[in-house]
Amino acid sequence: MAPADFSYHILKPPFPRDFVAWYPYIRPEVLGPRHERWRRWLLRVIDGETGMIDRMIAARNSASGEWVGVVWTSTSITCPELAHFGWFFVEDGCQGSGVGGHVIETSMSMLRDDGVRMVMLPTQLENERAIGMYYRRGWQLSITDPSGGVWMVHEPPGYYRSFFAPDPGRPIRASAPEPVDFVALDYLLSRPAAPIRLLPLGLVGNRRFISFTHDWDEGAYRVARQAGRPLALAAALPVDGWHKLDVFGLDRRAMSVAAAALVEELPKSFAEVAATDSLRRRALEDAGMVPDGVHSAQVAGAKISLCRYSPGS
Ligand SMILES: CC(C)(COP(=O)(O)OP(=O)(O)OC[C@H]1O[C@@H](n2cnc3c(N)ncnc32)[C@H](O)[C@@H]1OP(=O)(O)O)[C@@H](O)C(=O)NCCC(=O)NCCS
Repeated sequence: MAPADFSYHILKPPFPRDFVAWYPYIRPEVLGPRHERWRRWLLRVIDGETGMIDRMIAARNSASGEWVGVVWTSTSITCPELAHFGWFFVEDGCQGSGVGGHVIETSMSMLRDDGVRMVMLPTQLENERAIGMYYRRGWQLSITDPSGGVWMVHEPPGYYRSFFAPDPGRPIRASAPEPVDFVALDYLLSRPAAPIRLLPLGLVGNRRFISFTHDWDEGAYRVARQAGRPLALAAALPVDGWHKLDVFGLDRRAMSVAAAALVEELPKSFAEVAATDSLRRRALEDAGMVPDGVHSAQVAGAKISLCRYSPGS
């Protein structure tokens, strides 16, 4: 079969009934052990209830009318330059005949027309074929997780740095995370940065991919924003009657605004920061925390010096 034997469609909620009946990633036999974790979110996508702009780019067999392939893209009103791309699937019998390539082209051209500049996708290290397919189309590996997760980004070089840099003349405000923040927060957390390994355990299902599986009730979170755009995330998780705090971002001011909001709310907070991580250390100090001793720890197989921070008086 040739790609021309298929037609390609951009679907928006409400999705056609026959498409929903076919959609593979809400079926337990396709999802396997991940079923419980993901189905809840994917059903919200299918029902058009995520608060995001969700689309399914799908291929159907022109002769039989059957759906044979799909990928999901998600963007938000507050960050229209960013898109999440995921849950790509082509029916076994149609794989290797160019359908997947056409679905990617259709998706990328749609996203470009919408003004999207950065497209991020998660895949698995073991999926060499998918990684090669994306790499040949301009995606670059952003980061790999020790458990086998891989993040790839398609963007103008260095674009994310300017995206997450605040306008120095405008205020930054912190508030609770919103569903529309998720694509931007995933981007932020999928950036290589050794200190991110200090993320409080349990923050995220697979540590950096927070949009869909994360149970936000586990801890307290504040997002620092400028004009609706997320610039930093502070997280605090309960540990032995205290809260272990961490903050993620590329800009000291944005990080300190997010951290300060949590420090104020949770006076019994502490943080542990790599001694060499001067950006994070300064941001915590700006947020009112003070250094409270240094100790060594094994992090990701290496011994590092950790600086403990406690709330100032
Ligand atoms: C990944 C997937 C969606 C691709 O769809 P597809 O219709 O097979 O894609 P295509 O036929 O357009 O082939 C895509 C590329 O893979 C290459 N390819 C095909 N079969 C291959 C194989 N056995 N080994 C290595 N590469 C192969 C093709 O040559 C093509 O290369 P190109 O980049 O030069 O175009 C499909 O294989 C699939 O559903 N796989 C299972 C689910 C999955 O892995 N999803 C991706 C998760 S991120």
